[in-house]
Amino acid sequence: MSYSIDLGGHVALVTGASSGFGIHFARVLSEAGASVVLAARRTERIDAFAAQIKAGGGAAAAVTMDVTDPGSVAAGFEAATQAFGPPDIIVNNAGVANPVGFLDLTEEDWDLVMGANFKGVRLVGREAASRLVAAKKPGSIINIGSILAHGGQPQQSAYAASKAAVVQLTKVMALELFRHDIRVNALCPGYFRTEMNEEFFGSEAGKAYIARTPGHRLGELSELTLPLLMFASSASGFTTGASLMVDGGHTARLV
Ligand SMILES: NC(=O)c1ccc[n+]([C@@H]2O[C@H](COP(=O)([O-])OP(=O)(O)OC[C@H]3O[C@@H](n4cnc5c(N)ncnc54)[C@H](OP(=O)(O)O)[C@@H]3O)[C@@H](O)[C@H]2O)c1
Repeated sequence: MSYSIDLGGHVALVTGASSGFGIHFARVLSEAGASVVLAARRTERIDAFAAQIKAGGGAAAAVTMDVTDPGSVAAGFEAATQAFGPPDIIVNNAGVANPVGFLDLTEEDWDLVMGANFKGVRLVGREAASRLVAAKKPGSIINIGSILAHGGQPQQSAYAASKAAVVQLTKVMALELFRHDIRVNALCPGYFRTEMNEEFFGSEAGKAYIARTPGHRLGELSELTLPLLMFASSASGFTTGASLMVDGGHTARLV
């Protein structure tokens, strides 16, 4: 028996599509047949990425979006809708890490992380869902959490709080939106090398950290592919409000 996931006819909007996970997620969704809308602040990066997808035969559009700004989010969705119709697969991936000890954390530090990681997920989710409800279209919203939604780490008070908030928001959005045929799930990765953390994981402290994880390794982006496609596809039509760890057992370990 073989299975395949065909997202032809779907419109996927990925935030943070200028780097790391976002590039991988957009590529995977495009390869599965979706038209993809690449959203981020660094316009030159997403323009180049959109051109690359189009050159390979896919459908892509780049929209400049700051997820912390409601006007920018609305304008990005408007441009996406003009290009392909309302996005029905939304990957709330944009995020920042800003490790600072709790006692030293300033209001700016807190607002930076909570803004991109939590407020952004709410603003993008609300914009996406209200457009889908108005269009009477089903959809899937995938919020990118983290293992730090479920466990703590020194220097990560804002980050861990923002990701725990994302997981809780995911549950309530799921409850309210399932009657509109919109599913909302959270994907909670362990550690993968991206621009967010490459400096740390290249350092001796980072290597020692990796050695203490159950698999003694970081994740590979390809190991996020099927979890993403599962949530994106209507094949998981009864899965909503879930939070899936993809972490090589990291959070299963007590010490
Ligand atoms: N890498 C990991 O090990 C890991 C583990 C668990 C969870 N995560 C989560 O996965 C997501 C992606 O992270 P990554 O590792 O791929 O990091 P990354 O390479 O640093 O990418 C972060 C992305 O977020 C975008 N972004 C940041 N602030 C934004 C804003 N205000 N508006 C719009 N876009 C914004 C950036 O684009 P612009 O700067 O161009 O706007 C960039 O594309 C984040 O939510 C992160 O917390 C990562």
